[in-house]
Amino acid sequence: MPSKHAESSSPRPRGDTSWFVNDRFGMFIHWGLYALPARHEWIKHHEQIPDADYDKYFKHFDPDMYNPDLWAAAASNAGMKYFVITTKHHEGFCLWDSKLTDYKATNTPAGRDLLRPMVDAFRRRNMRVGLYHSLIDWHHPDFVIDDMHSMRNSPDRKKLNAKRVQARYAEYLHGQVREILSQYGKIDILWFDFSYPAGKSGRGANWIGKGREDWKSEALLKLVRELQPQVILDDRLDLPDGWDIKTPEQFQPREWVKVDGKPVVWEACQTFSGSWGYHRDEESWKSVDMLVQMLIDTVSKGGNLLLNVGPTGRGEFDRRALERLDGMGEWMRRHARSIYGCTQAPAEFKAPQDCRLTFNPAKKRLYVHLFAWPFQALHLDGKAFVERVEYAQLLNDASEIRFRKSLTPQARRGPDRHDTLTLTLPVKKPGVTVPVIELFLK
Ligand code: GLC
Repeated sequence: MPSKHAESSSPRPRGDTSWFVNDRFGMFIHWGLYALPARHEWIKHHEQIPDADYDKYFKHFDPDMYNPDLWAAAASNAGMKYFVITTKHHEGFCLWDSKLTDYKATNTPAGRDLLRPMVDAFRRRNMRVGLYHSLIDWHHPDFVIDDMHSMRNSPDRKKLNAKRVQARYAEYLHGQVREILSQYGKIDILWFDFSYPAGKSGRGANWIGKGREDWKSEALLKLVRELQPQVILDDRLDLPDGWDIKTPEQFQPREWVKVDGKPVVWEACQTFSGSWGYHRDEESWKSVDMLVQMLIDTVSKGGNLLLNVGPTGRGEFDRRALERLDGMGEWMRRHARSIYGCTQAPAEFKAPQDCRLTFNPAKKRLYVHLFAWPFQALHLDGKAFVERVEYAQLLNDASEIRFRKSLTPQARRGPDRHDTLTLTLPVKKPGVTVPVIELFLK
């Protein structure tokens, strides 16, 4: 089994990922003023909206139907075990009652700290707490305007930057991280987003971006470890180490994510549709089938799935999100043990066509997830199956799946060699999104 995570060259204190690699499935929540324009959380950047115009969303942010118990219930019922909330996104607006800014929910018609009731509600559901915090801030007066900023093309960019002191912004950034890591109890995940230095991620040498020096990332990392030593830290501070998880987003890795050739702890973050923030008119919503398959595919490669909801400006999960969360919960109710505590199967077990394997090492159970339902027979090739499978059942109803050791044509010539275990399947596909066969191993 691959190691839990790459040992960095200079080992630093690491977060506790033991629960993380067991729980596998979490909810991302992107919520801020951008829920009101309702056309992507980068709206201020995309439409280069000046602060004076963007302030209308601050004035009208009134989530009168906000009830985080409903959010936590929807997440928990979907089978999610942790959540990560945007305390502040790139727009600079803060959900909590920060003492370091007036640009916060407390000063909008919401009139209160929105983070505290949320953290409490998810904890009441025994869910772990993760905080996303944007390094980027298109509202702060000391955040130097760069090529990513909403005012990147302003004719006053040079004049405005003459008065901006990035080190003062870094102080603000560290001060707010101290607030959110000190005032909300034990934090399990801290999700910084994101660094974009020149010369990386395809950006040329002339690109004016930001990285570790602009955030004072080394000092920030030290602060994080002082305040919440167990916290799981993502990989977006532009530091070569000190992170606990790699965070591919909006694609399915083809294999276990590696760093320097070594498998690491990883979490893919994905959206239901094409936007992280609430987007009223965006229609590319993934089906429940696709979402369940993405969860299975991720765990089959040793990863976690962080699936995002963008609540509305009224403070609700919209119907499209709730329907998909319900559908995933329906599958998880009977199949969760093929996800929790599972990881990539040992190499000697090869997944058949149109299938994924997950493996629970503690229970010595292998799970075959059938993305397509074959006619009557499923062939599991390889001695490992033949020698180690002692019993098989459909997970949804615990009905036995009988099997026989079958000889492949080549094996017929060998002395009693069996290298295929053939499962006999009912002709009719079970009425579940993705049928799963549970194999009990000797
Ligand atoms: C990308 C998006 C950002 C989102 C993040 C989540 O960086 O630009 O809006 O918060 O992904 O990982």
